[in-house]
Amino acid sequence: MYKSITGKIFEELKHVTDKEYILTDEYNKDIYSKDNTEDLKYYPDVIIRPGSTSEISKILKIANFYKIPVTPRGGGTGLSGGSLPVFGGICLSLERMNKILEIDENNFQITAEPGVITEVLQSECEKRGLFYPVDPASKGSCFIGGNLAESSGGPRAVKYGTTKDYVLSIEVVLPSGEILNLGTNTLKNVSGYNLTQLIIGSEGTLGIITRITLRLTALPKFRKVALIAYDDIYKCISSVAEIFKQGLIPSALEFMERDAIKTAEEHLSKVYPNSDAEAQLLVEFDGNNEEVIFADIEKCALISEKYDAADVIMAEDTSKIEEIWSLRRAVGESVKNISVYMEEDTVVPRFRLPDLLIGVKEICTMYGIRAICYGHAGDGNLHINILKDGLSDDEWEFKTAKAIPEIFKLTVRLGGSISGEHGIGLTQKKYLNIAVQEKVILLMKEIKKIFDPNNILNPGKIFDL
Ligand code: LAC
Ligand code: ZN
Repeated sequence: MYKSITGKIFEELKHVTDKEYILTDEYNKDIYSKDNTEDLKYYPDVIIRPGSTSEISKILKIANFYKIPVTPRGGGTGLSGGSLPVFGGICLSLERMNKILEIDENNFQITAEPGVITEVLQSECEKRGLFYPVDPASKGSCFIGGNLAESSGGPRAVKYGTTKDYVLSIEVVLPSGEILNLGTNTLKNVSGYNLTQLIIGSEGTLGIITRITLRLTALPKFRKVALIAYDDIYKCISSVAEIFKQGLIPSALEFMERDAIKTAEEHLSKVYPNSDAEAQLLVEFDGNNEEVIFADIEKCALISEKYDAADVIMAEDTSKIEEIWSLRRAVGESVKNISVYMEEDTVVPRFRLPDLLIGVKEICTMYGIRAICYGHAGDGNLHINILKDGLSDDEWEFKTAKAIPEIFKLTVRLGGSISGEHGIGLTQKKYLNIAVQEKVILLMKEIKKIFDPNNILNPGKIFDL
């Protein structure tokens, strides 16, 4: 289907990017063969690390002409296999395009290249009293370009929204090599179809994002966290909707069941209070009025009492707050170390979360599989890590092939979808039709063909053509 990269094509590529940025050795191929998705590995034929938009444009022209697959790659932290080069070809790493180009303090905007690490971008904003709130768990190593490609979320989405809510304009290179400028750096813009938002979350299948302007907000002065322990997991999850019904707007509201906390504790070699409780909520409030934040946390504590919470731990100073957050951030990585696993990223309207959790536990019990649940309860986004533990390969295949579609069908019945923030990528594409109408998938495929008639850009992702 695709052409392999001949010596002649290599010569052409070396005219575009200095040869020190073109890697073909086995050691690097191994590094770039994986991201954070399960234990999947697909080897690229070559890794190219371009330094500019114009180089990317030239590389894509060559790849498009010879029909070589190109898989764009950010920080390699994806959880649905979006950056895996499933057909070999070129792994196009954006790591050298890592400059912050401008911080506009008058208009509250930042312009950056795609290879800037999200946390670096955030801290540059914070030094100036500005705030880019989107904070995926991998913020210390993921790239802002990858965040756009997946429309990444994270804990603060509950109050601040996800990546898509902050993008004003982007520069994108099409598979043909043409360079597009989409959007404007204004807070309003209604000028034809919103192609900017079409690119956001398109998982690197329509174009390569090479420059990004984000809107920012003012950095809130104060932040407080409470960790609320429950002896009953369903009472814990049922208290979530009540917090919002009382008019409270937390800046994060996270859920962790006991196994998630225990695994993270082990990973961090640290013991946290109440870690034997069946489940815990991490609630954070931010703002400029400290008294209001205290009052809001108090109200949460009162609500949790109604749901028989066992204990509430408050964290007020930065180091205590960070200690609690480090527990939550460690969950994702640590549950992966237990066993072979599959990770699902279900999302429902948040008042349906208790139904989702009950249903997931029932399905897992029925098939005799263990799952560890945690996630962004405030957004109804439940991560479900299904563990192989001691199952044989055949049992694992059989049970997950039955249980996962059932979990997704339940999610859709509850008004939700199969991925809140990790994307469809490679691992979830076989389930896409559970959540998305056949006709809509057809339209998506037609759009893909318009952007990428030769299907060279991140082929094999979201759907098969
Ligand atoms: C988290 C990642 C897995 O929430 O999305 O930790
Ligand atoms: Zn998450």
